[in-house]
Amino acid sequence: MKLAVYPGSFDPLTNGHVDIIERGKRLFDKIIVAVLVNVEKSPLFSMQERVDILREVFKGQPNVEVDTFEGLLVDYVARRKADVIVRGLRAVSDFETEFQMALMNRRLSPNIETVFMMPAEKYTYISSRLIKEVFKLGGQVNGLVPEIVEIKLKEKHLRAVR
Ligand code: PNS
Repeated sequence: MKLAVYPGSFDPLTNGHVDIIERGKRLFDKIIVAVLVNVEKSPLFSMQERVDILREVFKGQPNVEVDTFEGLLVDYVARRKADVIVRGLRAVSDFETEFQMALMNRRLSPNIETVFMMPAEKYTYISSRLIKEVFKLGGQVNGLVPEIVEIKLKEKHLRAVR
């Protein structure tokens, strides 16, 4: 069974992430979407909210598992008995950091391979950071994030203005 780990902060999940997971499903028997614990000191969505959103979006799909991890990614991948890390590559600007991470992970754990996947062009400019910024400033994010993320963003906004 070919098992891959797709790690990230997912604060929040975007359609770019969903696209990568959908593509990954065609290559691997199972994708473990691994949400990093404590990635930022003040994430917009709590760990539980991010996990709940992912579980909702991929419910009924046994080949997509949602989990959390802390500490070194390679240790988590080994614990889960996987040997592939999937990362999305949107543009050249992603390359340098991703290259550094992939080579550091390879140094730490030579048997784990990083596989880069390109999302659909229509998602190449989306990032969780931009989604949060645009939404906060009153811009529309429909079509860029799953519907449930849009709903949760609106709920947060309503709570903040009340
Ligand atoms: O979605 P992100 O924020 O770009 O994901 C980054 C992530 C979670 C993949 C990266 O920060 C990570 O792997 N963190 C775990 C700690 C670790 O293993 N660091 C060394 C990697 S070179």
